Amino acid sequence: MMNPLAKLAYQTLQQGKSVFSVAHKTTNNRLLNLFAPPTALQKEQVQKLSPEQLLNIQQRMLQLQNEDWADAERGIYPSELLFDDPWDDFFKFYPAVWFDMPGTWQRIQQNNYQDFASDIETEGYPQYYLRNFHFQTDGYLSDQSANLYDIQVELLFNGSADAMRRRILAPLKQGLSHFEGPERDLKILDVACGTGRTLKMLRGTFPKASLHGIDLSPAYLRKANELLSKQPQELPQLAQAKGEDLPYQDEYFNGISCVFLFHELPGPIRQAVINESFRALKPGGTYVICDSIQASDNPDLKPALENFSQTFHEPFYRHYIEDNIEARLKEAGFENIRVSDHFMSKYWTARKPS
Ligand SMILES: C[S@@+](CC[C@H](N)C(=O)[O-])C[C@H]1O[C@@H](n2cnc3c(N)ncnc32)[C@H](O)[C@@H]1O
Repeated sequence: MMNPLAKLAYQTLQQGKSVFSVAHKTTNNRLLNLFAPPTALQKEQVQKLSPEQLLNIQQRMLQLQNEDWADAERGIYPSELLFDDPWDDFFKFYPAVWFDMPGTWQRIQQNNYQDFASDIETEGYPQYYLRNFHFQTDGYLSDQSANLYDIQVELLFNGSADAMRRRILAPLKQGLSHFEGPERDLKILDVACGTGRTLKMLRGTFPKASLHGIDLSPAYLRKANELLSKQPQELPQLAQAKGEDLPYQDEYFNGISCVFLFHELPGPIRQAVINESFRALKPGGTYVICDSIQASDNPDLKPALENFSQTFHEPFYRHYIEDNIEARLKEAGFENIRVSDHFMSKYWTARKPS
């Protein structure tokens, strides 16, 4: 049983992050309306959420926090993870989030989503990737984008992005418990590891396992390396690669995770990423995907999902929210598929047959 004061501290922290995020977004929207007012069409495309819908979102967030706390209490992951916010980065880069805003507003207003500074290397990346997702400066291709990313995602999810990522840990831990032998023999890959938040959680949960992460962005991998190299345990191995073309031999990993990638991929690439993960998993290996909830999960939240694809540049999102990921997992050969959703995210856990 964990200290009840610690629970209060966790709830207060989450509440504080939520209030701050709402204030941030409200100010941002006001400034956007002032300096780069939306066109009539853009206005028409954004749906206003009712008080009931907002309450539903709020309740789902509180439910997520309860589940997060309960998993730490059950010892699935150390309770320190609940308080592991990157405050250094927040104080260092939060002002830059605001300085970056006018450029973002301009891209939103002009619907300009292929805006890369001339010194950014764009050779060799797939076409679907070369864009300013979220209208963010430099897409995923600069150090500054990597520095701002985690702050922006936490603000978007009212301080609950990490809590949503942590929902992959219990199913992964349960899946990996079927392998016999010491933890140091386990090999786990995080596909599209970004700045390394999930890998850090995996390290907390599996201190001795061999961890690997791949991502397409060299800048995000540098940022992940900066975060993970502060940990006393073995450094996860990072590589620049595509999720749909993994640089690993067949049947290498016991577990593979993939967080917040699928909604940014065209449908056929989603299937290719699943197929590759199937190939790289050992028989009996566990695959866990975390991404946005989908249209059919909660009709009340559908307008919020549709707003997301309108307000941010997310060209594959509308297809994603209707996509049958379960069918894709079955097509790849996975079995024992379990599906759940928490707050604004959905989770698929699947097993490669033994
Ligand atoms: C929305 S971010 C998610 C990052 C991280 N998993 C997280 O939880 O924040 C999407 C990430 O996927 C990477 N990415 C996009 N397409 C990819 C692909 N085909 N293969 C590997 N990484 C990809 C991007 O560079 C970016 O880091």
